[in-house]
Amino acid sequence: MSTERLISSTPITEVEDQTNWALRPQSLDEYIGQAELIERVLIAVQAVQARQEAKDDTQPREHLEHVLLHGPPGLGKTTLAHVIATELGTNLHVTSGPALARGTDLVAALTRLAPGDVLFIDEIHRLPIAVEEFIYPAMEDFKIDVCLDTGLNARTVQIKCAPFTLLGATTRAGLLSSPMRSRFGLVHHLKYYSDDDLMHIIQRSSRLLQIPTPDHDTLGSIASRSRGTPRIANRLLRRIRDYAQVRHNNEINPQIVDDALNLEGIDHLGLDELDRSYLTTIYKVFNGGPAGLEAISATMNEDSGTLEDVVEPYLLQIGFLARTKRGRQITSKGCQHLGLKPISSEPITSTL
Ligand SMILES: Nc1ncnc2c1ncn2[C@@H]1O[C@H](COP(=O)(O)OP(=O)(O)OP(=O)(O)O)[C@@H](O)[C@H]1O
Ligand SMILES: [Mg+2]
Repeated sequence: MSTERLISSTPITEVEDQTNWALRPQSLDEYIGQAELIERVLIAVQAVQARQEAKDDTQPREHLEHVLLHGPPGLGKTTLAHVIATELGTNLHVTSGPALARGTDLVAALTRLAPGDVLFIDEIHRLPIAVEEFIYPAMEDFKIDVCLDTGLNARTVQIKCAPFTLLGATTRAGLLSSPMRSRFGLVHHLKYYSDDDLMHIIQRSSRLLQIPTPDHDTLGSIASRSRGTPRIANRLLRRIRDYAQVRHNNEINPQIVDDALNLEGIDHLGLDELDRSYLTTIYKVFNGGPAGLEAISATMNEDSGTLEDVVEPYLLQIGFLARTKRGRQITSKGCQHLGLKPISSEPITSTL
């Protein structure tokens, strides 16, 4: 199953999610990478803190403006939500779009909030439309209009909630309605991490997992296989640690990283069997493309959604795949990596 891939950017098991907790940065200074985002958040948080200090206890608590984070899975959206609440010194309430199925679920979530609290809604693009309409007045004026009864007895009751910060996270910003998007004060797209940032993350995680700190080259070889994603970096590190413990008396060096990950079918760029067979299918069956996603998925006997969400984003990012109006196409860089002869016609326009 592709969901069990070692280089999947979503958590494989619940146990992994718990282990990751221990590796999560707790404060903004511990958060590695995404410098632009961190600076914007830091300024916003410090401004709130300064305004708060200027107030006396009788005035309502200041709140941060609403924040929307979008980007591929495993880049640290949930982590940042926890960090922001900690920095503000308020509570974080966690929920998700699908969990807020009805207006009453949202009312329950909002009325639990204390002034200045952060409400984190993961997968906010999956919020039902009916609930979305309730959330607008809550975001703007901190009140919710609830409709009681139906027919002749119908009446609207207004419920007030404490001033709060809505922190929305999504992997699919394109699916968010524009009225929803426009109600966020700070919108930021999380980017894939550079190898340098990943090396720092792996170094920090080694310390927390009590593994002897790998040297520079070893850190680099793990980082380059992590697909720009901290969650994958941490997972590879744990896998390498196990391998080193069993086979090499806990020693980790670039050769051991290579051996451990080759065993899992992961190459030096972090591509696994599924990525390679996806590219090879386009090359061999569709003569390099362009080919439609559905046709490729039928040939490979894989779910098209899996290919689109899990396989394609990274291949597009590293320039091995092009998405054109006429379909998917392998690039000469992609051919080169697989040791195949490049196909002459390169795509003219590539749109994401
Ligand atoms: N900046 C960072 N520094 C160090 N570790 C990080 C950083 N960002 C993320 N991580 C690590 O990566 C793991 C995954 O991050 P997180 O759960 O926040 O991702 P996410 O963007 O919420 O993913 P999803 O979209 O799947 O919910 C965390 O458990 C943490 O250990
Ligand atoms: Mg998350």
